Formats: sequence, structure tokens, C-alpha cells
Amino acid sequence: MIIVKHISELQQLVLQARKNNAIIGFVPTMGALHAGHLSLIKKSHVECTITVVSIFVNPTQFNNKADYEKYPRIYDTDIKLLENEKTCDILFMPDEKEMYPVPDHRRFDLGYLEEIMEGAFRPGHFQGVALIVSKLFDAVLPDKAYFGKKDFQQLAVIRKLVELGNYKVEIVPCDIVREPHGLAMSSRNLRLSKEDFNNAQIIFNALSKIPEWIQNKTIDDIKQQIKVMIENVPPFKLEYLELVDTFSLRTVVNIKEHRFITACIAVFCNDVRLIDNIEILL
Ligand code: PAJ
Repeated sequence: MIIVKHISELQQLVLQARKNNAIIGFVPTMGALHAGHLSLIKKSHVECTITVVSIFVNPTQFNNKADYEKYPRIYDTDIKLLENEKTCDILFMPDEKEMYPVPDHRRFDLGYLEEIMEGAFRPGHFQGVALIVSKLFDAVLPDKAYFGKKDFQQLAVIRKLVELGNYKVEIVPCDIVREPHGLAMSSRNLRLSKEDFNNAQIIFNALSKIPEWIQNKTIDDIKQQIKVMIENVPPFKLEYLELVDTFSLRTVVNIKEHRFITACIAVFCNDVRLIDNIEILL
């Protein structure tokens, strides 16, 4: 595994690989790697000739300064993990100056995606995601890029970005990897106490009720009951639960009009914000 810090070095390596007809796979991350990230990297390793992984805690996508500052940074552990896995060929670890040599005030027309769920509750978040991913795509020029369904709405934002920027990249969605008790793996889980980590299974337990409830309860009732379930386990607090069409992300009003629904949830455990979702086939 080659570790590079500069875009110029990265581009030289990728260009060289391209001359040899390599298929370039790319997995952008913010580090504190876990089995969820590793599943994306492995998929790229299987499908592509060269796998590029980036680790960069992107300041422009954090709408909350404390969340940015407390975001886990365990770079040495990440490097060792990737070295052991042997699935990453090039690890790109730029510093802030490399990605933002000058302030970049570009805006992306993400439309409706910025008005709902993560877009509504984290103002500016998806502008920051779109900005860094466009810079990373420009640097890597990948053939395929791998994103987790854990960040369901982010995947839609990335697809929109590809359309807006006319990127020649195939976006590969990857399944959510969970802890044995059901909690979706997340770098932010490192910030939970042992007790809260164990109790956080309530999030997936609650989501798992929805496929059954959706048959005979109203959407408002479902939202209310999920709130009660979650908030019965202190200090968990529901921020939102939304049922949206899996493809359009439009809010579901009448379930009879949909075949694929995704239930998306955001929960606070003290100041740690956790998101998850479940796809429901009707
Ligand atoms: P990060 O949260 O580090 O996630 C990197 C990638 O791993 C994302 O595509 C995310 O959806 C995926 N991922 C995280 N947890 C997962 C899980 N439990 N199962 C499957 N996939 C999982 O998402 C970001 O970073 C950033 O927004 C980024 C795209 C890198 C831009 O800064």
C-alpha cells in the first residue's frame, strides 16, 4: 500500500495505472475505519484493478463545530488496519491545505435533497459533502466509486453530483454493515460509552418494527410509537423518522402508492448523532 499526501503524487500513480488499462476503484472515507468501510474497500478490490481509499475529515460538511472537533481521528490504527487487509493499493491522506488551498465557495444545485431529513437538520452538510467529493473525484478520476447505504441520502446526493458534474464514474451502493446486536457501524460509535453502545441496539430494533407496522398503522402512529420506543431508553432522543420513496426520496403519504420505501432515522445519544435506515419492500 502506497500512502500519498499530495494530489499531484496521487494523479501520477493513477495516470500510470491507467496507461496499463487499470480500472480505478475509489472509496472516500473520513477514517476511524470499521468493518462497514472495509466492506466497501473489499468490494472495490474485487471489482477493480487498483483501489484508492481516501481519509480526510472534511471540515466543510460539519454543520456543528464540536462534532468536527470530536470526530475520531485514529490515523495510525487506520493505516495498520488497511495494511493488514491488503485490499487498498493507494491511501490518500491529504491535509486541509491540500484540499482547500483557497476557500471554495462553489454551490451545487442539490434541490429537494437539501430540504429533507439530513438536508433539513444539517444545513450546509450536503454542500460540504458535494464539494469534497467533487474535489476527490477530480483528483482520482475513478471508474467506480463505492458508497454505503448507511448514508442513504448521501448516496442520492452523490448521484446528483455525478449528474451535475457529468462525471464518468459508476456509483456502487453497498449494503449496511451492522454490529452483532444490530447497530449500524459508524465511526461515531467510538464516542458512545459501553452502556450506550449496548443500548443503541434500540435504533435498529425500532426500525425493524416498521415493515410489520406499516401494514396496519398510520405513518403518524408509527412515528409516535418509534419515538416512545427510542426515548424509553435514556439518553436516546429521536430527531426524526421519515418514510420516503426509495428512489425519489419523496415523503410517503399513502403507502399504497409505493413499492419500495426507506425508513430513515436520526437519533441523539447525548451529543452523539446516529443515523440509520431500513428498506421496506411492499
Ligand atoms: P464516512 O462516514 O467515513 O463513510 C465513508 C463511506 O463508508 C460512506 O460511503 C458511508 O456510507 C460508508 N459507511 C459508513 N458506515 C457504514 C456501514 N455501517 N455499512 C456500510 N457502509 C458504511 O460518508 C463519509 O465518510 C463522508 O461524507 C465522505 C463521503 C467521505 C465525504 O467526506
